[in-house]
Amino acid sequence: MSLFRTKNLDNMVAHASKPGGLKKVLGPFDLILMGIGAIVGTGIFVLTGTGALTAGPALTVSFIVAAIACGFAAMCYAEFASTVPIAGSIYTYSYAVLGELVAWMIGWDLLLEYGLATSTVAVGWSGYFQSLLHTVGLDLPAALTAAPGARPGVDTVMNLPALVIMLLLTWMLSLGVRESARVNNVMVVIKISVVILFILFGFSHINTDNWAPYAPFGASGIMSAAALVFFAFIGFDAVTSAAEEVKNPKRDLPIGIIGSLAVCTILYVIVSAIMTGIVPFAKFEGVDHPVSLALQYAGVNWLSKLVDLGAILGMTTVMLVMAYGQTRILFAMSRDGLLPAKLSTVHPKYGTPYFATWMVGIVFGVIAAFVPLNVLAELVNIGTLAAFCLVSVAVVVLRKKRPDLKRAFRCPGVPIVPAIAVIFCLALMSFLSAITWIAFVIWLVIGLLVYFGYARSRSLLHGATQS
Ligand code: ALA
Repeated sequence: MSLFRTKNLDNMVAHASKPGGLKKVLGPFDLILMGIGAIVGTGIFVLTGTGALTAGPALTVSFIVAAIACGFAAMCYAEFASTVPIAGSIYTYSYAVLGELVAWMIGWDLLLEYGLATSTVAVGWSGYFQSLLHTVGLDLPAALTAAPGARPGVDTVMNLPALVIMLLLTWMLSLGVRESARVNNVMVVIKISVVILFILFGFSHINTDNWAPYAPFGASGIMSAAALVFFAFIGFDAVTSAAEEVKNPKRDLPIGIIGSLAVCTILYVIVSAIMTGIVPFAKFEGVDHPVSLALQYAGVNWLSKLVDLGAILGMTTVMLVMAYGQTRILFAMSRDGLLPAKLSTVHPKYGTPYFATWMVGIVFGVIAAFVPLNVLAELVNIGTLAAFCLVSVAVVVLRKKRPDLKRAFRCPGVPIVPAIAVIFCLALMSFLSAITWIAFVIWLVIGLLVYFGYARSRSLLHGATQS
């Protein structure tokens, strides 16, 4: 069945362990930092506001629910990544395991996820940027501050700062600027420092009266908020994309993935408890910089400016990772023949997929300018949750198909753990809005049309005899 034709997994594994490839320099600590660098961003700095409005102070529980879904999926991810330690994302892995059609759908899904995640973070960035501008006495014309309809009662036309930052990043990426491990480490230290300062200074301003009632919107509020703040955990898969540069991938990748997830969960739960302890949750209505708002509320203004700055820098690294990831998936799909070759042409001087980089930068920049943040975040979440489900299934399939493959990290309790991951992810998906589901289904249908109308017959595996 050509729909299920696969790339040769043994070749991929052999290629990854061949000497002479990328330098193997990264250890578990680097990976944890890399994960935190990709994870901490708009989720904690911005979506906590809407999350608090949806769940009340029980937002802390929402974070735990989202973390559990991620944790189970992460163990499946880690097994996958440690079995096939090659650069690339689950698109590449699934091509070897589940066949071309599923790989295509995952790749198509990831294009949406990474692209829209970059747009979402750009919108979050814009909120903090404007908050910082405001503190130095500068305000943009209201029409240019947000997407149409994003600010109740304000006539907004477009989010200009979000578009500008997207174009700036695209330009950097097109010139081959990739955040280096060192820049990433500095950014992580800054991000984590502002979060820890928030915890230290915010703690004494908690008014426990604000925690009652704890769950004003009940279990459904908690689950709806969990489906939204799930966004805060996206990015840990960035760790797997460094697989070829890791000293001991079989041991260090799982440590990197699970370690960074654990650190972020602890930080998120504490931050959301403090935020909802300082500010009565209803006051987060229409606020796009809730963490610094909580500090202003507590009267710690100097720190609120510092948080603005830390959030801006922190979100920039998240955008770089996401935008980079997206161009590389386009590149991989194009190289496999599934998308036009133009998308994998490399600039002769800069050595980057120039065309693909500008194409996605412009498309997702325009989306960031005109679509409100919550709508974007939900779309990213549905795409990611669907991808997690597929990875969890893939682990079980790979165990059955190739029990002989060496797996340094084995996901415990297969098939129970992958099953729990799928159940949690589907449960979160069910709490996303109808419009998100409709948009997602339309995207998948377009994907199927492109596959059968274009990609299938142009695939490099077309006519090949592999099973
Ligand atoms: N987890 C990343 C963020 O919250 C995508 O910005």
